[in-house]
Amino acid sequence: MLDQYGRKIEYLRISVTDRCNLRCVYCMPEEGVEQVSHSEILSFDEMTRICRICAKLGITRVKLTGGEPLVRKGLGSLLRSIKEIEGIEQVTLTTNGVLLAEQIEELAAAGLDAVNVSLDTLDRAQYMKLTRRDELEAALRGLEAALQYPDIRVKVNCVALHGENESQWGPLAYMAKERPIDVRFIEMMPIGLGKEYPFSSQELVYEALKAAFGEAQFLTGNFGNGPAIYARFPGFTGKTGFISAVSHKFCESCNRVRLTAEGFLKPCLQYSTGVDLRAMLRNEAGEKELEEMIQKVIFEKPRSHQFQMEGSSKQEDLEQKQMSSIGG
Ligand code: GTP
Ligand code: 5AD
Ligand code: SF4
Repeated sequence: MLDQYGRKIEYLRISVTDRCNLRCVYCMPEEGVEQVSHSEILSFDEMTRICRICAKLGITRVKLTGGEPLVRKGLGSLLRSIKEIEGIEQVTLTTNGVLLAEQIEELAAAGLDAVNVSLDTLDRAQYMKLTRRDELEAALRGLEAALQYPDIRVKVNCVALHGENESQWGPLAYMAKERPIDVRFIEMMPIGLGKEYPFSSQELVYEALKAAFGEAQFLTGNFGNGPAIYARFPGFTGKTGFISAVSHKFCESCNRVRLTAEGFLKPCLQYSTGVDLRAMLRNEAGEKELEEMIQKVIFEKPRSHQFQMEGSSKQEDLEQKQMSSIGG
């Protein structure tokens, strides 16, 4: 369906849990986030029911995210149920990869279409510093395991951190040299702990990569579902992508809404506005009532984020949660 600004909303990001087995410094505090009890989290049946209504309203693609989605048991069964919904064409996953090797077979069998693995560095000591866990090897094993499935598209996400992982941009981008992996560099967004970390702009990352690999050809055309723009360095098999919410605001073409693990439907990641679908589901709201509410939230989706002008927007509407609770 179209929102009030005429954007086609066809993509739903579901955070299946806000728990995580890593503690990335810009995403989660060392002690983790406040544990939400099991009953406060939507069941898979509830998530599937919401997806079914969303599919009726025009959602065709679903992303499973977190926290870390693979820490929630039995994710394959949720994936399978969502894939079975009429109108859903694609279900993808964004994960830190740590548990991927052991779960990819089940996920592939359930119909996973693509997976994004978050990897900010290939250096073990730096990985430990950034994620506060010694899991680089497991994450790389997960990435390799996913690459064994030719029908599952694989991308790598690297948040470009000023003064932290510059030395790794080249080695990470180089993973796409001989293999069909798209490596994307993400500008840090000032959300949650991300506010405390200086970001590196797309231009800065591109200049560093250009010095190493030569001039890239920027590609037009639509790859993937989202805000990334893509380029190809000479002789590279895979693409290099940039997700630059700060320097190249992409809200005008935004196509998505979000469902948090607790069942809150959020039309934009920077705002706390939306609707508590869990309360409605558990108060036995009817199908029509749910559908109308979801339609309303989608229609009223805010025009854009306001990273650059937080002071001037209504502070009470701005999201105060950590990124792990929003689902990235
Ligand atoms: P594909 O469908 O695989 O292309 O994924 P994606 O790029 O939409 O999602 P992914 O989960 O890999 O997220 C990559 C980065 O994009 C993360 O840093 C997300 O927080 C960010 N991101 C995703 N959706 C939005 C959005 O609507 N707005 C903003 N500002 N950032 C987003
Ligand atoms: N800005 C940009 N990306 C972020 N991520 C987590 N926090 C932020 C932030 N503040 C990324 C993760 C992961 C993706 C889902 O979101 O590194 O790759
Ligand atoms: Fe976990 Fe992802 Fe947040 Fe890192 S960025 S702590 S992997 S949810």
